[in-house]
Amino acid sequence: MFIELDCPSSVKKQLAELFRESLKATVPSEPDVVPLVEACVANKNGVKHADYQCNNAMSLFPIIKEKQPEFRNPRSLGEGIAKNLPPSEMVESCFVAGSGYVNIVLSKKWIAQSLQKMLTSGIHSWAPRLPVKRILVDFSSPNIAKEMHVGHLRSTIIGDTIARMLEFCQPECLIRRNHIGDWGTQFGIIRTGGNINECDIGDLQEFYKTSKSKYDSDPDFKTKARQSVVKLQRGDPKYREAWHKICEVSRAEYNKVYRRLGVHLEEKPESFYNPYIPPTLKKLEKLGLIEDSDGARVIFVEGVDRPLIARKSDGGYNYFSTDLASLWYRLNIEKIDWNIYVTDVGQWQHFDMLFKAFRRAGCRDGSINVGWLPKDANEYPICTHVGFGLVCGDDGKRFRSRSSETVRLVDLLDEAKSRCKDTLLERDNAKGWTEEEIDKTAEAIGYGAVKYADLKINRSTNYTFSFDQMLNDKGNTAVYLLYAHARICSIIEKSGKDIEELKKNGSLVLDHKDECTLALHLLQFTEVFVESCSNLLPNKLCEYLYDLAEIFTKKFYSNCQVVGSPEETSRLLLCEATLTVMRQCFYLLGIEPVDKL
Ligand code: ARG
Repeated sequence: MFIELDCPSSVKKQLAELFRESLKATVPSEPDVVPLVEACVANKNGVKHADYQCNNAMSLFPIIKEKQPEFRNPRSLGEGIAKNLPPSEMVESCFVAGSGYVNIVLSKKWIAQSLQKMLTSGIHSWAPRLPVKRILVDFSSPNIAKEMHVGHLRSTIIGDTIARMLEFCQPECLIRRNHIGDWGTQFGIIRTGGNINECDIGDLQEFYKTSKSKYDSDPDFKTKARQSVVKLQRGDPKYREAWHKICEVSRAEYNKVYRRLGVHLEEKPESFYNPYIPPTLKKLEKLGLIEDSDGARVIFVEGVDRPLIARKSDGGYNYFSTDLASLWYRLNIEKIDWNIYVTDVGQWQHFDMLFKAFRRAGCRDGSINVGWLPKDANEYPICTHVGFGLVCGDDGKRFRSRSSETVRLVDLLDEAKSRCKDTLLERDNAKGWTEEEIDKTAEAIGYGAVKYADLKINRSTNYTFSFDQMLNDKGNTAVYLLYAHARICSIIEKSGKDIEELKKNGSLVLDHKDECTLALHLLQFTEVFVESCSNLLPNKLCEYLYDLAEIFTKKFYSNCQVVGSPEETSRLLLCEATLTVMRQCFYLLGIEPVDKL
């Protein structure tokens, strides 16, 4: 867990508070014991005996058995805990099972009321609060001239969702930062390769590739390329002009990707920090962190043999120099208290060393220096590296397209859209749709599918990119989820009822067991969100959303008639609550829901 969220509306949290009271009364000699409360999971036959359970008795028993001999075994301790549970409207019954699990069945009335309250005050009333004020998420961050590859697509998708999740908690400030690599060797390579007038990104990439192989094979070329980077970094106007041109061409290409994905980033490229590098290094020098190593200026950090290079021996600055300056800037000028970097896991050590250098600077010789990082990594301001795995093709190897070495992201997204469009056009449903409707729907599904396929797996694992899989309308895909959403919309529409009116005057009553299962799952949104957000793991939220769609479709919708039934009002409210929670999930995942499909 990276951060602790305060969430009064979480069921788990509320029950934990009740158990805290009970534990205090039951085992007074252990005042600090943390209540272990979990939602119950169904056994393999799909049976669940309760909604939540408290698991403290088993581990607590050996600690207190001498002091409190009245408890003969974990089970009798569990019974003590159950007996001391303060009365609460949320609890219907409490009983002990097995070797001492204290089980809780929630009151249906309380669940129904909680959902109704959410429907009137909006899902934001369920949002947790963050312990930090100013957050920066550094993501996407492609490099000019070099291709913007599928790794950057992952960074863009995961980074945007993380930003959306944190935004839901309403921090004072949240920055989506595009740390574009516009300042490195690739500029020198291109510049030395020849004249770069009016080429589009395809050419620029081709051009980069040919020049890069010269750079790798020809030492003269290499020296020249490096010198041009130093000249650029020192501000030579001729070099600046060429650089501007290259940046513009690249930027136009990134923007096409961002527009399709609906992602808005604020750009502060590496070059922005150039003026901050010398003063940052000077400060580090003053603190005694910088050493000389064969003409290069380096910093050693704890637990790593090789030092980080703050300035190269030719006087040039590198990726690291810029990150030293940019982190200094973020902490001191932007006053960021949570700095998040979203890149592939391969950069883990880079960030580990960066953060360690800042911690070393923040606590030099035992005195605390502000403007760097505190010695304790859990104290604010904090820095977090959010790593993700490689993108692989169907063959399990690094992802490449059939025709060329690299995949243009724009082409990839266009293909997702056009495949969806073809499928839509084959279906009878879409016969009466306008061209625009078809286009918008194809975009929502196509881009949504690309995003969801990426977000639904644990980000630190490798990920297999497959159109066939992600566009399958069964299985755990955005397509399936969007269908479920559209189905609920059509149920409500078919009823012809005014939902706003029902929210005001109708009442939600839970009776059928599938209504109860759905309602409880809806109420658990908050605790799943808390888990997903505090660990920066969007896949937890995807799992939740998929389960929600499954419960709705396979349980509730299959067994509980809505329109025309005596329970119509209540069930419509349950449909509306499902829509509200689903839409919030879609929003957090950056997926645009569609009302009809
Ligand atoms: N441009 C880098 C890359 O393509 C990612 C930059 C991440 N942010 C940072 N502050 N280093 O891998």
